[in-house]
Amino acid sequence: MNSLMQSNVPQQRLGFIGAGRVAQTLARAAQQAGWTVSHVASRHAEHAQALAAALPDCTADSAPAVVARCDLVLLTVSDDAIATVCASLPWRAGQAAIHCSGATEVSALAPAAAAGASTGGFHPLTVFADPAATLPSLPGCTVAIEAQDPLKRILEQLAQDLQLRPLSLPPGARARYHAAAHYAGAFLNALLGDAARLWASFGATEAQMLAALAPLARSTLNAAQAGGLAGSLPGVVSRGDVGTLAKHLRALDDLPEPDLAALYRTLALRTLETARRAGRLDPAQVAAIEALLRSDQQLVQTGRESVQ
Ligand SMILES: NC(=O)c1ccc[n+]([C@@H]2O[C@H](COP(=O)([O-])OP(=O)(O)OC[C@H]3O[C@@H](n4cnc5c(N)ncnc54)[C@H](OP(=O)(O)O)[C@@H]3O)[C@@H](O)[C@H]2O)c1
Repeated sequence: MNSLMQSNVPQQRLGFIGAGRVAQTLARAAQQAGWTVSHVASRHAEHAQALAAALPDCTADSAPAVVARCDLVLLTVSDDAIATVCASLPWRAGQAAIHCSGATEVSALAPAAAAGASTGGFHPLTVFADPAATLPSLPGCTVAIEAQDPLKRILEQLAQDLQLRPLSLPPGARARYHAAAHYAGAFLNALLGDAARLWASFGATEAQMLAALAPLARSTLNAAQAGGLAGSLPGVVSRGDVGTLAKHLRALDDLPEPDLAALYRTLALRTLETARRAGRLDPAQVAAIEALLRSDQQLVQTGRESVQ
């Protein structure tokens, strides 16, 4: 059995408990990167057997046997099962228990820590589906690592070998870190859903909307990554174009679904704050836009006359 202090970290015996989407991808990636994935367990033995069969020299076994035989044990079970599964296993000093959840605190692994094991989080910031599709897209993704040395150093080595970009997370930050990721994933999808509703109102399909707006979203992301959020800010708010903004609000307020206008106003206020920070607008422009966005529908109707 190796120790976590061993310098040749790929010699550590890696085990997985939970043979789902993340395990199927990370186990293959680690094995391809030269790490030893020796044991796998899962709730259903046949799922562990299927994963083990896809890896050279890997054995499907019970979860306690994985803990007994491996140095680094990744608990790749569903979030709600992490604490219970961890509490049921025979941990010992000199090994590590690691979960791959974004939002679950590492303290969910407290029973392993109480038995002397190191504990940590290793959360790859990507969507895992079919391993054949996910494996090639792993390089360049970020992985959030929360651990103390020497485990932190080992997980950083694993990240480097998988061509992931390590991001160090302090204790207590996981829920905020994971919530923030939704703005670039699930919520971006939700925003495009609002765009689809608006385009449907003039007869365009979701496919037409995506064909037109997905490239716009990509170029916005590319510009933001290259020039920063403030430096690359697009749109009518950043230009101080009060007249066009009032037209948008009037069109949205005329729709039977008030939630579209409400979210537009909230997002436009966020955009205004970025434009103000970037020094793109003078104080009078900021005040005029803020007044327009904070006005209720009645006031916007009145404001129509001044911009027509
Ligand atoms: N999917 C993603 O995009 C993604 C991305 C980053 C991180 N994560 C995190 O990675 C972890 C695993 O997610 P996943 O997507 O791989 O989940 P998944 O595909 O649903 O797989 C979960 C696995 O856990 C096993 N399991 C559940 N309860 C168990 C128990 N009590 N004992 C033993 N095994 C148990 C299941 O076993 P059986 O198959 O045998 O029933 C299943 O194979 C989660 O913490 C998740 O938050 C997921």
